Amino acid sequence: MDTTSLIGKELAAAINADTKARAAALAEQGTAPRLALVIANDDPASIWYVKSLNRAAERNGITCENVDLGIDATAEQIRVKLAELSADPSVDAIMLQTPLPKGVGLDDVSLSIAAAKDVDGVSPLSLGLLASGLPGFPPATSEAVVELAKFHAIPLAGRLVAVVGRSNVVGKPLAQLLLAENATVTVAHSRTTDLPSVTSAADVVVAAVGRAGLITGEHVREGAVVFDVGTNEDENGDITGDVNAESVTGKASALSPVPGGIGPVTTALLMRHVVEAAESAR
Ligand SMILES: NC(=O)c1ccc[n+]([C@@H]2O[C@H](COP(=O)([O-])OP(=O)(O)OC[C@H]3O[C@@H](n4cnc5c(N)ncnc54)[C@H](OP(=O)(O)O)[C@@H]3O)[C@@H](O)[C@H]2O)c1
Repeated sequence: MDTTSLIGKELAAAINADTKARAAALAEQGTAPRLALVIANDDPASIWYVKSLNRAAERNGITCENVDLGIDATAEQIRVKLAELSADPSVDAIMLQTPLPKGVGLDDVSLSIAAAKDVDGVSPLSLGLLASGLPGFPPATSEAVVELAKFHAIPLAGRLVAVVGRSNVVGKPLAQLLLAENATVTVAHSRTTDLPSVTSAADVVVAAVGRAGLITGEHVREGAVVFDVGTNEDENGDITGDVNAESVTGKASALSPVPGGIGPVTTALLMRHVVEAAESAR
């Protein structure tokens, strides 16, 4: 069987073209949308990600400010800064970078981000809004899976979808988004017994684990569609997914590549959320 590559480039370009036009319209009316990136780490992957977000914002006509609190920032200092930015009418959107300083959990601080500015849906409030079907921002990575499926005309309604991973930032919100698309959703995790039998029952498998090559041909039924959310750095510094692409190719009908699948769509959706937040605020 041929395995189609579910590349994200075209979809990301279409989203970015729309975002750029909307950002330009806002700038014409007065001010460009403004995103604040709150940073409290010196992690190389995070530094790289911040740079790529800075570039993406610039390309789309979004003003992006890096607010560096330093690696020793306390939970209270982070909360105060997030609350300040949430109350600042000149800031439309806030993204808190991880990892956070030692001993500070995302849940200790993320509630201080106003839901209307929580463009990556990290706060428990955003997750609750999503679970309740109320307006809010879903985490961009989870949304990217659904958008990439729609773009490549992969039906979700009525189909069995197995999500591997149950984190608050990817697996859980993705399960909610898939339910909203009328999929029948199974969520697997590290305590799932017999993962291959769970995922092999599914029409669509989403790997969001953080273990390079965990999902192999043994986990996928003939003709299934596989989305790879994983971003793992190998010994050469290259990014690899949670799916062993070689093993799945020829068995799955489609597979999203890493890099080049979910990643570019995620960034594009984040920028779209910034513009949406700015449009609502105006
Ligand atoms: N492309 C993007 O833009 C983007 C954005 C965010 C994240 N990611 C990537 O997505 C992946 C997941 O991220 P995350 O933040 O959700 O990770 P995480 O918080 O570490 O969660 C990993 C999840 O995988 C489960 N898991 C671990 N080992 C497993 C196993 N052997 N079998 C089945 N399930 C297992 C864990 O189960 P338990 O709950 O039982 O521990 C947990 O629910 C990572 O590779 C991350 O880099 C990509």
